[in-house]
Amino acid sequence: MNNTRIIAPSFLASDFLRLNEEVAMVNDSAAEWLHLDIMDGRFVPNISFGIPVVEHIRKATKKVCDVHLMIVEPERYVEAFRMAGADRISLHIEASPNLHRSIQLIHSLGMQAGVAVNPHTPVDSLQDIIADTDYVNLMGVNPGFGGQSLIPHTLTKIRRLRKMIDGQGLQTLIQIDGGVTEENAKEIFEAGANVLVAGSSVFKAKDPKKAIEDLLKV
Ligand code: DX5
Ligand code: ZN
Repeated sequence: MNNTRIIAPSFLASDFLRLNEEVAMVNDSAAEWLHLDIMDGRFVPNISFGIPVVEHIRKATKKVCDVHLMIVEPERYVEAFRMAGADRISLHIEASPNLHRSIQLIHSLGMQAGVAVNPHTPVDSLQDIIADTDYVNLMGVNPGFGGQSLIPHTLTKIRRLRKMIDGQGLQTLIQIDGGVTEENAKEIFEAGANVLVAGSSVFKAKDPKKAIEDLLKV
C-alpha cells in the first residue's frame, strides 16, 4: 500500500486580491501540492479562473501545481495548461469518452495524470483504467463549489478504491477533493486516502499554515 500523505490547498477558497501572499503562505507551509480548480460553467454550474491565473501562480511557486479540470472536452485544454505550468492534471471520467487517450496525452506532455470521479460514479468504473492512472481525484462533494460538507458515502468509495489499487499491486494515489476538515481528515486518511485537497479548511482558517500541519498530523 502507498502510505504517502500530502495536503493540497485549493486556491478556490483563497483571497484572489491577495494571491501573491496566499501562494507565499503555501510555499512556506508543509503542503506539497497546490490544487487549482478550473470550471467552465458547463461541466459544473460555476466558473472559476483560467490559464493566465495558473501561469501567474506557477511563476510564484516551486511546489507541485495540480490542475483539476472541471470542464467539458478537457483534452482540448491539456496542452495549454501544461504550457501554463501544470505538473499534474486530473480530468473527469464523466467528461472523457476517450479517457485512455486523454491520459496518454497528459503523459506524453510529461505530466502525471489523474482521473476525477463525481459522487454518483462508481469507483468500479476505474477497474480498467486504474493501472494507467497516477492518481484518482475522488470527489467528496458535487464539484463546482467550495465550502460544502463531505458526502459520507465517500468513505466507502475510498475503501473500495484502496482495495482495487492494492489488489492490482499499484502505487496510484487516492486524492479526496471537497469537504475535507480537521475533524474528518483522520478517518479519510485511515480509509486509504493519500492526498487531501483542502480549500475552506485551510484558507478560511485563522492560521492557514497551522491548519495544513494539523491536517497532516491527524
Ligand atoms: C470543488 C473543488 C474543490 C474545492 C474544495 O468543485 O474541486 O477543490 O475547492 O473546497 P473545500 O475544501 O472548501 O470543500
Ligand atoms: Zn478540485
